[in-house]
This record gives sequence, structure tokens and C-alpha cells, in this order.
Amino acid sequence: MNALIMVLPGDGTGPEVTDQAVEVLETVAELYGHRFTIRTDLVGMDAIEAYGAAIADDTLADCAQADAILFGAVGGLTQVGDGPRPEQALFRLRTEFELFANLRPVRPFGALIDASPLKPEYLKGTDLLFVRELSAGLYYGHLETVPGKPSEIRRRGNRMEAIDTLLYTEDQIERVVRTAFELAGTRRRNVTSVDKANVLSSSVLWRRVVERVAREHPEVTWEHMLVDTCAMRLIRNPAEFDVVVTENLFGDILTDEASMLAGSIGMLPSASLGSRRTPGGVFGLYEPVHGSAPDIARQDRANPIGAILSAAMLLRHSLGLHPEAAAVEAAVEAVLADGFRTEDIAYAGGTAIGTAELGSRVREQLAIADQQN
Ligand code: NAD
Ligand code: IPM
Ligand code: MN
Repeated sequence: MNALIMVLPGDGTGPEVTDQAVEVLETVAELYGHRFTIRTDLVGMDAIEAYGAAIADDTLADCAQADAILFGAVGGLTQVGDGPRPEQALFRLRTEFELFANLRPVRPFGALIDASPLKPEYLKGTDLLFVRELSAGLYYGHLETVPGKPSEIRRRGNRMEAIDTLLYTEDQIERVVRTAFELAGTRRRNVTSVDKANVLSSSVLWRRVVERVAREHPEVTWEHMLVDTCAMRLIRNPAEFDVVVTENLFGDILTDEASMLAGSIGMLPSASLGSRRTPGGVFGLYEPVHGSAPDIARQDRANPIGAILSAAMLLRHSLGLHPEAAAVEAAVEAVLADGFRTEDIAYAGGTAIGTAELGSRVREQLAIADQQN
């Protein structure tokens, strides 16, 4: 098939891990006879420098032409004061393309079961999928009194105060909850909806919508869970979860926590999906869950697996290339089974290698699997 993929590597370790994921996509194209056209542009700090904004309007227009976006990470060590922030690139992309469902699967690889700080017996059977709401909540707080000013720091008397508001409409809740129930139907048919309904009005409304959507899916078992309980149970009994659906900020925090089930934040991929169709599936933005990791940038130390598995999600969800996506995941598994690891997952043994070598070993495994078929 022909596909246009927009690549936005970004800051810090973003370009290093994205390079490996792009080369994996190129290998897939070669082995399976596809034509992927790759277009690359600046986002984050370099875009602020070059275009005066974390993402340029022209870049967004190019993204709109593409079947999917492969994103690295944005952000720096120091914040840029009052000027544009690199993270705004993400919000513009999420808003522009109405990417409301952020899928973050957590499935520890067998070869890494000892790399998690958790005992192997706690991890056994863990295979969960977070569906994080990505278009609303505190990130897009809305002040009725000051239109267009979602949050601010302001003076009150001779002291300062700051305000962020948490707003959810019924429609924003419903579309992501529906996505979660539909995805659960393709898995173990269980949904945990996570909220803070003992405190927040938005969570009370969230529960009502979940109960209504759940009635449309009698084949799916489900429960409400408070977010603090969920944070605890993710460590106590991660295997009890199948699909976990939650609002934006809770999902951000819980998925960094859950990354440790897989051994490292560098392991987790993500897909941010909206409703626009592509010939092979649905338009989306794919990126590792981790950030720009400035502390290890440009040292060939970053784990590229989260980025490579994000490329696999791109193949599956936006291009509809299911066997290719599974082949990439199997190649990652084979490299780990051979004992090769970046340093973040090497503390339980194995051979520590760099970002680029790990990526090239994944591509080598793809070619080996192709020859065997
Ligand atoms: P981070 O995820 O960048 O790093 C947290 C820790 O995990 C660091 O010690 C880092 O070295 C390590 N780490 C991260 N990715 C790794 C990888 N692939 N391999 C090995 N180790 C890895 O989070 P942070 O340090 O809190 O944030 C740094 C910057 O990234 C901030 O500006 C933040 O806003 C931004 N950020 C961006 C995204 C994104 O672009 N989607 C996501 C999260 C954070
Ligand atoms: C993520 C990141 C972003 C978020 C930041 C960088 C804005 O942490 O994608 O998980 O909180 O959504
Ligand atoms: Mn995050």
C-alpha cells in the first residue's frame, strides 16, 4: 500500500528514538512491498526557534494530508518563561485533529519480567490497555468569566493566585467511554472506569455516562474505581485489569506509574486517535509515553522500544497492516529474548547496548522472520 507518514521527532531523545522507529517502518515497507512516504518537520524547541511557535501552521497543514503522525517528544530541561512552550505542539495537534482517545497498552514482555521492580508473581498475566481521555479536563480548563483564558496566574490583593478549571461535557465523556467498551469487546471484555466521584462533579457525571454506555454492552463486565484505589491496585494486582478508561490528568499519571510494570517508561507506546477515517483505519498520532528525557539525550542511551512499538500501533490502527504490526512486536520480543537491552532495563541482566544498536537488532529480527516465512 501507499501511505504518507508525517514524522515529528522533537526535542531531547525524541529524534534518537524516532530515527529507530522510522527505520523500522522503512524495513517493513521493503519486506512487505509497501511505499511509505516520510515527511519530517520541526516541533518543540527547534520550531519555537525557527518558526516562533511550538508547531507551525504549515506543519499542521502537512499533518492533515498524512495518514498518520509519528511523534518523538517535546520539552526541555528549563521552561521558557512566558514565551511559547514546546509542549504546546502536543495540545495543538490533539485539538486540531480531535484526538480524544489515547491508547496506552501495558504488556510486560516475558524476557523482562525480572526488570520490573515488582516481583514476577505479581506481574503474571498482566495485559492492560489504558484509554486516556485526551481532549478535555484540566489541560483545557475553561473559565466562564474570562473567555479564551483557560487558566491563569493573577494578583488578588497583594498575593498571587492561580486557577485551572476541570470541565467535561457529556459528549466528551461519552465518546471516550464508548471507545473503551468497544475495545474491551475485542479483548477480555472488562472495563474499569476510574474517577474521583467522591469529590469531583465531573466524575459524578462521568459515572452516569459510563452506566448508560455500559447498558449498550451487556457482554462487557465493568466497574467504577476511585483513582487513588486504582493507583494502589495497579501495583497490588495489575493482572485484574483489562481496559482502564479515565480522564486526562488521571490517565497521564496512572500510565507513568503503570510503565514500571513493563520495566521502564521507555517501553510504553501510545496511539492518540480521533474519528477521521483513513483508507486503512483511523487517523492518529503515535508516540512513546515518555518525554524528551534531556538527562540522557544525545548519548545513545534512550530505550527506543516505546517509539518502535508506537510505529507498530501506527501500522495497525491507521494503515490496517495487522500482520506487519504483529511482526514488529515479535521482532522486539525476539531481541529481548536474546538478552539485548538498553541500560534502563538492563539491571536484571542481559547485554546492555545503545539506542541505535537496539533498533538495528529489531530490524535484523524482522528480516530473519521474513526469510523464515
Ligand atoms: P521523561 O519521560 O522525559 O523522563 C523521566 C525519566 O525517565 C528520566 O530519568 C529519563 O532519563 C527516563 N527516560 C525517559 N524516556 C526514556 C527512554 N526512552 N529510555 C530510557 N530512559 C528514559 O520525563 P521528565 O524528565 O519529567 O520530562 C522531560 C521533558 O519532557 C519535560 O519538558 C516534559 O514536559 C516533556 N514530556 C514530553 C512528553 C511528550 O512529548 N509526549 C511526555 C512527557 C514529558
Ligand atoms: C504525555 C505528556 C504530556 C501530557 C505533556 C508533555 C503535556 O506528559 O503525553 O503523557 O501530560 O499529556
Ligand atoms: Mn505524561
